[in-house]
Amino acid sequence: MTKQRVGVLVSGRGSNLQALMDAQGPFCPFEIAVVIANLPDAGGLQIARDAGVEAIAIDHRPFGKDRSAFEREIDAALRARSIDLVALAGFMRVLSAFFVTAWAQRLVNIHPSLLPAFPGLDTHARALAAGAKLHGCSVHWVTEGVDTGPIIGQAAVPVLPDDTPESLAGRVLQAEHLLYPACLALVCGGEGAAGAAARDTALFMNAWAP
Ligand code: GAR
Repeated sequence: MTKQRVGVLVSGRGSNLQALMDAQGPFCPFEIAVVIANLPDAGGLQIARDAGVEAIAIDHRPFGKDRSAFEREIDAALRARSIDLVALAGFMRVLSAFFVTAWAQRLVNIHPSLLPAFPGLDTHARALAAGAKLHGCSVHWVTEGVDTGPIIGQAAVPVLPDDTPESLAGRVLQAEHLLYPACLALVCGGEGAAGAAARDTALFMNAWAP
C-alpha cells in the first residue's frame, strides 16, 4: 500500500494530532510525515517529537500582516518533504487564497460544530445559546472562506441539560478524535478512481456512547 504522506498543521495542545498519530499502523493509508506549528510552544510539536516525527515551528508573528510570506514558508517546508495532503488540526490562522489554491483538494480541516452551523470561533457557547439539541464536529475540504468547504464527515453528540461550554467541548472533542482519523483514512484510502470516489463519500457518525 502506498501511504499518503500527511503534513499536520497545529497551533495548540494537539489532541487531534495525537488521535491521527494513534491511528497509524500497517493498514492505515496515511502516515504523518511532518508537524508544523505557528507557535513554537505548541503542545503538538512535543507530541510529534515524542513519536519520532519531524516537528517544525514557523512562527507567524515575525511576518506581521504578510500572511502569504508566512504561508510560503509553510508551503516550501511541505513540498520539501513531498507531502501529499495537509491536515489542519487546531490550526488557528486563517489561510489566504495563496495557500488554499496551492493545496486545493489536498487540504482538510476539523471544525468543532456541525457545519454549516456555527462556523468561526466559540462554537460551543454559541450552540448552547442557540438552544441546539445536537452538536458535534465536521471534517471538511478547505476552500477560500472560513469553514465553508465541502464536508467529508460529521459526528454528532447530544447537548445535555446541564452543559456548559466546557462540558460540551469535552464531549465534542471525544467525537473529533474518532472522526478525524476515519475521515483522513477515507480520503487517503484509494488512488485514482477509487480515491476520487472516496472524496465524494461522506462519513457520518453518532459519536455518543453514554
Ligand atoms: C479542536 O477542537 C478543533 O476542532 C478546533 O481547535 C481544537 C484544537 O484542539 N479547531 C478550530 O476551532 C478550527 N477553527 P487540539 O489542539 O487538542 O486538537
